[in-house]
Amino acid sequence: MNPRWLARGQSNPSMPDSLFDLTGRVALVTGAAQGLGRAMALALAEAGAHALLVDRNETGARETAAAIKQLGRRAVAAKCDVADPAQIRDLFRQLDAAFGRIDFLGNVAGDGVLGAPEAISLEAVERCWRNLVFGRFCMCQEAGHRMLAAGRGSIVNIGSLASLTALGRGHIAYSMAMGAVAQMTRELSTEWAGRGVRVNAILPAQVMNPALEQRMSADPTLREKFLSGIPARRLGQPEDIKGLAVFLASDASNWITGALIPMDGGNLAANAGATVGHRGQGTGDGEAEGRVTEGS
Ligand SMILES: NC(=O)c1ccc[n+]([C@@H]2O[C@H](COP(=O)([O-])OP(=O)(O)OC[C@H]3O[C@@H](n4cnc5c(N)ncnc54)[C@H](O)[C@@H]3O)[C@@H](O)[C@H]2O)c1
Repeated sequence: MNPRWLARGQSNPSMPDSLFDLTGRVALVTGAAQGLGRAMALALAEAGAHALLVDRNETGARETAAAIKQLGRRAVAAKCDVADPAQIRDLFRQLDAAFGRIDFLGNVAGDGVLGAPEAISLEAVERCWRNLVFGRFCMCQEAGHRMLAAGRGSIVNIGSLASLTALGRGHIAYSMAMGAVAQMTRELSTEWAGRGVRVNAILPAQVMNPALEQRMSADPTLREKFLSGIPARRLGQPEDIKGLAVFLASDASNWITGALIPMDGGNLAANAGATVGHRGQGTGDGEAEGRVTEGS
């Protein structure tokens, strides 16, 4: 970069406005009814993309589709449980019929399961893997076929801090699955980069969602414990994903693939990881398995 034009407050001539432009592109986003998936889909549409909004909550997906249509883009809502490969294959047939192309896949949907390592059932571990690992992989395969044939495409997998570090507090199944999401991202980016398809991951720390709110109201100490691991001293909001989503979907990130990008207010840099000593769900013998969709 030439510091002279920056000093004069001019725009960078090597960075045209179109760098982040997604006009005419087609994005498929899962988990689009609420939270990170909805925020991602809206950001892509604001940058010009048409969208297929996927969720097992069809009403929510329709609401997101309606908001995107208000922006003047094409938007189609589809009901799909990403834990079921047959439903995913059917989803891609809908995509082919409705849009005939895919430029971006946002793999966001998928619940975790909480339970102590010594007590969690293998069925619960398998359920978690079906949601977070097989679901994301099957989506990557289906999108990958189409993107490789077109010679271009961008995929973003949502991982977690648990993709890179242990969390404790009963996150064994979630953490094993999110570790697999990191390796899936690295392997796919390595295999597909030379054929025009980029695969990256976003690793969020705690981003507000209904499950997290419920757990924080059940345990009033939890918010402060989470904040103690976040140098930015605030929890994430779904909207925090908007800039990264547009960047990774657009030509602005053309040479970026296989990256695992923390979205965590500095948590991983400070190596905060687990909230050691916190007696939450799953840390005691035989505690009930619960649902989790947060990252640390
Ligand atoms: N919120 C966090 O703190 C956080 C941190 C790290 C990673 N993540 C991951 O990000 C993703 C989204 O989190 P969020 O905070 O937006 O959650 P959220 O609960 O607010 O939204 C998740 C959405 O995905 C849908 N969904 C869940 N499982 C599905 C399935 N099997 N098939 C289809 N739709 C399904 C839900 O209906 C919901 O609309 C999850 O995979 C979560 O594990 C979240």
